Amino acid sequence: MKIIGPFTQLLPMTNMPLKGALSDDTLPIIKNGGIVVDGGKIVETDTYTNLLKKYPKATLQTTNGNTVALPGFVDSHTHICWGGTRAMDFAMRNAGKTYMDIAREGGGIWSTVQNTRKATKEELVTNIVHRANYLLSQGVTTAEVKSGYGLSVEEELKMLRAIQISHHCTKLHLIPTCLAAHTLPKDFDGNHKEYLELMENELFPILKEENLAKRMDAFIEEEAFDAKVTIPYFEKAKELGFDITVHADQFSTGGSEVAVEVGAVSADHLEASTQKEVEMLANSDTVATALPGATIGLGVTFTPARALLDAGACLNIASDWNPGSAPQGLLLTQASILAAFQKLSNAEVLAGLTYRAAHALREDYIGKLEKDFKANFVTFNTDNYQEITYQQGRLLPSGVYVEGEKVMG
Ligand code: NIG
Ligand code: FE
Repeated sequence: MKIIGPFTQLLPMTNMPLKGALSDDTLPIIKNGGIVVDGGKIVETDTYTNLLKKYPKATLQTTNGNTVALPGFVDSHTHICWGGTRAMDFAMRNAGKTYMDIAREGGGIWSTVQNTRKATKEELVTNIVHRANYLLSQGVTTAEVKSGYGLSVEEELKMLRAIQISHHCTKLHLIPTCLAAHTLPKDFDGNHKEYLELMENELFPILKEENLAKRMDAFIEEEAFDAKVTIPYFEKAKELGFDITVHADQFSTGGSEVAVEVGAVSADHLEASTQKEVEMLANSDTVATALPGATIGLGVTFTPARALLDAGACLNIASDWNPGSAPQGLLLTQASILAAFQKLSNAEVLAGLTYRAAHALREDYIGKLEKDFKANFVTFNTDNYQEITYQQGRLLPSGVYVEGEKVMG
């Protein structure tokens, strides 16, 4: 058993509401706090002096100077398994083409599929681990990773197996999601429905057998999949025990309605959502995930995060790190910029990066510093937590702890 601290400000993110707007005065802050860790889990948080009295035999792991500590960030939506680059897409968009034009002309997702198929599983592992460690250096201790650039049974399996192997090669905890329904591959001889049925029949059983994913995602959009074919696909996935998440309302509405209808754990993107979708999500158990990295990458409007919170939704913020729409991968920078444009409080941003993000993944023991939760936390060299968003990602963690062990800093 050890006591880690003292921290000038310790933000455990406990006893906060799962949904709705949050003002900064609702943020619990323990001044001169400490964390008791045993077996990689949190035993207790309190003031450092109280903990010294309560646990006189514990080992002490002391921190120096001004330090703010809070739960490790959770990035619930990434596509960090890919090969190649899409630098040409960015140039083409800025020369006047839209994301959809590029997709129709054979670029976009399909070009990354070709490059990812060319990569070996080992090369993909190298790419994933490199990107995972970069997220870790920003204080992310859990990240979801999607497939979706394979788009055949064999190639989706290659991606998901690479994600599974990568899990053992980084301290970042990776949660795999199957996104075989990303777009209809141009070499598939059949329609959308037939493609999804092939995945249900041939891919789903292997995913279960090898425990390669616990979540199923689909891109609901023109040029991708429509609601009609996606609902039965999701129903089949649900029968097998997969959680559902949706790329929803990115360019046009429709996806979030499917998400709520099928009881998805989250509806992600929502840049095109109107007040109707905002209210529908707020009245559901589906987490609304803003992906400001995709807004910045594509130069489009931000997810209506303010409206979602005011309507009572559970707002989560993720990076969407992918080669096409969100190549940046700087989660704290993106969340801070979203805050500036959508007028979010620090409490709302930090909740969206911690316990609300954990809820999007339905992970019960991360995102808060509470008894029995994993001792995943980050420290910043400052005496004021407000510096984190204020500095828009320039202030990087001074320490990253995974299950009680300092893995960076
Ligand atoms: O979340 N919109 C669909 N999927 C990704 C982009 C994938 C890509 O362009 O390669 C997204 O934005
Ligand atoms: Fe995405």
